[in-house]
Amino acid sequence: MNQPITQEILVCQNRTCRRQGSEKILKVLAGCDLPGVRVVGCGCLGHCGSGPMVLILPELLWYEGVTLGGIQAIILIVGRRPSIVSTG
Ligand code: FES
Repeated sequence: MNQPITQEILVCQNRTCRRQGSEKILKVLAGCDLPGVRVVGCGCLGHCGSGPMVLILPELLWYEGVTLGGIQAIILIVGRRPSIVSTG
């Protein structure tokens, strides 16, 4: 049985991020086995020049300048919902 999708990883595929290697980032992330996570290419995320840009939803976690080496950090983050965080 497939796990329901609870997170999305958006990888900008617009012109500037593509020049910075976002196609490869998308391809590698899409090839990872991430249960409950959908990996999709998307349009401009509004941070052109800082790419490749990646956004994790619904947490709104932004990553800029993602490299192939940095993908591992993203993989470690997804699927792990933060527990209750005390602020005081
Ligand atoms: S081109 Fe990727 S954020 Fe604009």
